[in-house]
Amino acid sequence: MTRHFLTLLDLTPDELRSLIQRAQELKQLQHQGKIVESLKHKVLGMIFEKSSTRTRVSFEAGMTQLGGAAMFLSPNDTQLGRGEPVEDTARVLSRMVDCVMIRTFEHDKVERFAEYSRVPVINGLTDLVHPCQLLADMQTYFEHRGDIQGKTVAWIGDGNNMCHSYINAARQLDFHLNIACPEGYDPDAGILDAAGERCTIIRDPMEAARGADLVVTDVWASMGQEQEQKQREAAFANYQVTAELMDQANEQALFMHCLPAHRGEEVAADVIDAPDAVVWEEAENRLHAQKALLEFLLT
Ligand code: CP
Ligand code: NVA
Repeated sequence: MTRHFLTLLDLTPDELRSLIQRAQELKQLQHQGKIVESLKHKVLGMIFEKSSTRTRVSFEAGMTQLGGAAMFLSPNDTQLGRGEPVEDTARVLSRMVDCVMIRTFEHDKVERFAEYSRVPVINGLTDLVHPCQLLADMQTYFEHRGDIQGKTVAWIGDGNNMCHSYINAARQLDFHLNIACPEGYDPDAGILDAAGERCTIIRDPMEAARGADLVVTDVWASMGQEQEQKQREAAFANYQVTAELMDQANEQALFMHCLPAHRGEEVAADVIDAPDAVVWEEAENRLHAQKALLEFLLT
């Protein structure tokens, strides 16, 4: 049966842990200059209906490094943008390439694509979730602090796609998630409820950060919400990750951000630009974690 990666729940907790392990191995091999060609001649099609720096570059570089190739497809110059149904695109592309990655708006679109695809489909971000980012974040946590099981993570900000993926990660990897979001910006109730007691909404960001082992935030206005920027700046004014907020967390707490970041909005410059910040490694780990994901789905 074709496996897809549309949310973190598509893999078992054991599969996620071994994928993170493999990502660390691939990283070491890469840093030692050793060549791993586990995906020789394989082709990844990448559909981007939203902008991207990290996702595009990490998938494309990753495929090349593993001996395969990646193809960037934008709606502007494919028939998708002219209204060819996603189901038809899925049936055609999946007869030509070995895997498809999609970044789009409606989550339902990647589900429909997967339903009609003969090859694995990877969610490269939808309005609902961003599972690839969580692979990199979890790899980064494991590398610096060991297993995240039983730890406390504080999510500060919007109950958005990244927040949803953190909720799913809390379920899968068994950590506690404090979610500090202003009223009206809560995560999806269904996703939250499914996580049961593993996730708690705490309106006060300082309280949510207290004793946390990892503090995470993201932009206040996601892609597609640009027109809400001003309104969101007002709603989230008290939700900036500052040095003072980090002081509430454990001494060894890490700070993560999927990037791109807006200094002076969701994060203070001195937090993200701290010399020991792991955010750049977190970004690098997109490459290693997705190489492990591609190997998992394709071999
Ligand atoms: N974090 C992330 O997905 O970055 P891009 O939007 O640059 O791909
Ligand atoms: N929540 C952000 C994440 C970007 C990687 C967005 O969807 O724009």
